[in-house]
Amino acid sequence: MDAMTSIDVASGSASGDLAQPFLSVRNVHAYYGESYIVQGVSLDVRHGEILALLGRNGAGKTSTLRTIARLDDPHLQRGEIWLDGKPIHQMRSFEAARAGIQLVPEDRRIIQGLTVEENLMLAQVAPGRGWDLDRIYGHFPRLAERRRQEGTTLSGGEQQMLAIARALARDLKLLLLDEPYEGLAPVIVQEIERILNQIKSLGITTIIVEQNAVAALKLADRAVILDTGEVAFTGTAQEVLDNAELRREYLAI
Ligand SMILES: Nc1ncnc2c1ncn2[C@@H]1O[C@H](COP(=O)(O)OP(=O)(O)OP(=O)(O)O)[C@@H](O)[C@H]1O
Ligand SMILES: [Mg+2]
Repeated sequence: MDAMTSIDVASGSASGDLAQPFLSVRNVHAYYGESYIVQGVSLDVRHGEILALLGRNGAGKTSTLRTIARLDDPHLQRGEIWLDGKPIHQMRSFEAARAGIQLVPEDRRIIQGLTVEENLMLAQVAPGRGWDLDRIYGHFPRLAERRRQEGTTLSGGEQQMLAIARALARDLKLLLLDEPYEGLAPVIVQEIERILNQIKSLGITTIIVEQNAVAALKLADRAVILDTGEVAFTGTAQEVLDNAELRREYLAI
């Protein structure tokens, strides 16, 4: 089923042209070695929109994010990925990062032995492209307080904030978040939600993968549900929240 065409116009996109998706993933097939995992996934994200990418364990959510970020595994065999009118599918991961695609993986990858500030400085690219430290600390007061602390000694929530801040220090056009709420207390989840809404208001486009589907749907404009590497549903976040059968079948909520 594909409800995409019926809801395209409904999203509050920051871009002038609603018909033109900012990210377009077209019939993408990807493999880990011989294992065929991403099996013809297509999805669109409008400029400035948050898309929730949901599905059961092993559905292929992380693999889809990794494919979009152009990591070596899974290997993209077929299909196209376009960001802001530019082809991404032939790029390597460093080129995709330069094009503005920043993946925040589940384990957050804070660099050991470096302070919060050193982690941020390492992420900074050419001046004027990513956020400078003042701007980051303005949005993340907790990181400002802990700027001299070693990054890996932060709490889980603070590490998640640092991982998001690091993406902002780079040239960020598309933020890919893999389970940002994992292991975090509800009050910290709320704080991260607030930050993600701020980022959205600045016009940055986001895909969020979450086991906490309710929290992701609360944040998201639209949702895509994956099932064994294929798209099982595309529609608005509200449509998923309103559809008990869909939630039971694919999300166990
Ligand atoms: N490196 C790998 N090599 C081979 N198979 C893999 C590899 N990584 C993941 N897979 C397989 O790909 C499928 C999709 O995994 P993926 O991690 O994308 O799912 P997911 O939706 O993110 O699941 P979860 O909710 O548990 O994080 C699973 O069957 C998994 O076993
Ligand atoms: Mg995963």
